[in-house]
Amino acid sequence: MKPLLISGIQPSGKLHLGNYLGALKNFVDLQNSNKYACYFFIADLHSLTEPFTPKEKQRQILELTSDYLAAGLNPKKSVIFQQSQISAHSELAWILNTLTPMGELRRMTQFKDKTERHTKEPSDKLFHEFMRQKSDAGAEKVNVGLFTYPTLMAADILLYDAKFVPVGNDQDQHLEFTRTLARKFNQNFGKTFVEPKSLHTETPRLMSVGNPSKKMSKSEPATCLFLDDSPETIKSKIMKAVTDSDKEIKYHPESKPAISNLLKIYASLSEDGIPKLEKQFHGKTYAEFKSSLAKLIVNHLAPYRQTKQNLKTNTSHLKTILNSGSNLARKISSKKISEVKKRIGLS
Ligand code: ADP
Ligand code: TRP
Repeated sequence: MKPLLISGIQPSGKLHLGNYLGALKNFVDLQNSNKYACYFFIADLHSLTEPFTPKEKQRQILELTSDYLAAGLNPKKSVIFQQSQISAHSELAWILNTLTPMGELRRMTQFKDKTERHTKEPSDKLFHEFMRQKSDAGAEKVNVGLFTYPTLMAADILLYDAKFVPVGNDQDQHLEFTRTLARKFNQNFGKTFVEPKSLHTETPRLMSVGNPSKKMSKSEPATCLFLDDSPETIKSKIMKAVTDSDKEIKYHPESKPAISNLLKIYASLSEDGIPKLEKQFHGKTYAEFKSSLAKLIVNHLAPYRQTKQNLKTNTSHLKTILNSGSNLARKISSKKISEVKKRIGLS
């Protein structure tokens, strides 16, 4: 039997090149390697932790499904499903909550970052209040879902006995937490869960093109390359990308973080190794390099843009894919949740 691999993305806005090179492109490569049983889902329950409207949420779920397909996921090869259609995810998350000390969740970097952002966003008044109060007082205001986010993520993975989880490295802490929970459950109630490992790409953390010490993220749209950006916008963002002080196109993350980040993008999309690119651009200017990179990104994304355009309007097709994927995923997860309930004496 092939090892099972699972991952999900939240439907909460447009995808960017970081999501693509850190996760989605890898989903497609792993699927096409035929080495794994692949499960990819729309993490809609997780996305409820950010502000939304029902209409917007419905649109985002279908849009992310069209992103998956346009990038190359194939429902004949991978199970593509919607998290909220499978009640076992929420049930197991609750059970795992009862095994989780609050202190462990409070340490999660993503929780700390999001707490700060949520507290800053709603109004200046709230922000000032937050700054006046001490340490994690800001956490009093954010929704509990953000706090228990990792237990739901652990449930997503453990329900399927997944061995591998392809994600960017910002999710490593959540994966470590998932392994800890699996071990704890197995010790307390008998061997039930598999301990999963994360799978990273060559770009597990793509940096912002405006600041190479910061992760590329949708919260800073001007320096974030969205997959749906027009060719003109991509070109303009790349031409404006910050560079390093000397003129050489060389890979050296410590002394040349900006150019190294751009070279990583180039290498990931062209499949050419960095040494080859350094040779190719030897003696060329930053402007020449950037112009070539912009072209490469635009050309690489062209089929994605075209397919997405065609899929977007066909909502019934997208819904059918999610429904049939969810039916398959439900079969596996309902067996597991029954086993869990037996193990803990609920049935
Ligand atoms: P964002 O961080 O933009 O909100 P998500 O949390 O929805 O994105 O992440 C979806 C997937 O993309 C995850 O596997 C995450 O690790 C990965 N990812 C997000 N940002 C980056 C980045 N800058 N570089 C590499 N991978 C990333
Ligand atoms: N937490 C992930 C993110 O922010 C999304 C996610 C939810 C996920 N459940 C998962 C990823 C299970 C991998 C496996 O991107």
